[in-house]
Amino acid sequence: FWQRVIVEKEVESTNKLMKELGNSLPDKSVLIASRQWGGIGRLGRSWSSPEGGLWFSLLLKPQLPMEELPLITLTMAAAMWEGLYNHLGIEVKIKWPNDIIWDGKKLAGILTGVKGDMDKVDYLIVGIGINVNNPIHPELKGIGLSLKDVVKKEVNLNYLLIEILNCIQKYYQLFLTDKREDILIINKEQSTLLGKRIIISSFKGKEEGFAKDIGNDGSLIIEDDNKQIRKVFSGDVSLKEW
Ligand code: BTN
Repeated sequence: FWQRVIVEKEVESTNKLMKELGNSLPDKSVLIASRQWGGIGRLGRSWSSPEGGLWFSLLLKPQLPMEELPLITLTMAAAMWEGLYNHLGIEVKIKWPNDIIWDGKKLAGILTGVKGDMDKVDYLIVGIGINVNNPIHPELKGIGLSLKDVVKKEVNLNYLLIEILNCIQKYYQLFLTDKREDILIINKEQSTLLGKRIIISSFKGKEEGFAKDIGNDGSLIIEDDNKQIRKVFSGDVSLKEW
């Protein structure tokens, strides 16, 4: 399934490098680095990526309209949920759309980037960062968490990577063949947000609402304080009370 796997010691950011290599590598390529000195998180944040974590990016070239993109992140989140369950027996939570959570803290994140225009996606870069054996940056204490602190032992990075890639293969194929029920079910059942009051921050400012559901298009469906139902496609969402 995976056509090319590239392993690097250190890069600025696997997402950034993969974006540059996108035209010259085949569909379903994987780029892994032991550490990143300029790891990128969502919303322009930086992503601390010292040795001991799993930092990798996938290059995917599906025939897709842009509207389907939000579901890709949910596909990856479902795969990570299953990979972590199979490999370590833990049941993590998913904070829509891209955070993998344990005990209210962030274990892993997904960053989906795209090259193309509104009509057609040229290629997708899906970056996945998992805190495995790495220390958490002092500024993120209380916010981030490593897997080794959950399972109380060091986790073998290679075996974990293989399990996660196998699950991504499974869920990506389900996504491509329009069998998306399981992707949505996992994201709904494991959601940290559904049924709760939330705050959505976007360029429009902050807004409160109630997280009702996840749509078939991957959106978060919220009810605002005027009882209006709306769909949110991106932005930063946090719980009113954690
Ligand atoms: C988030 O903000 O939650 C997304 C974090 C994504 C981090 C990964 S690590 C591998 C890949 N390369 C990057 O620079 N970022 C992603």
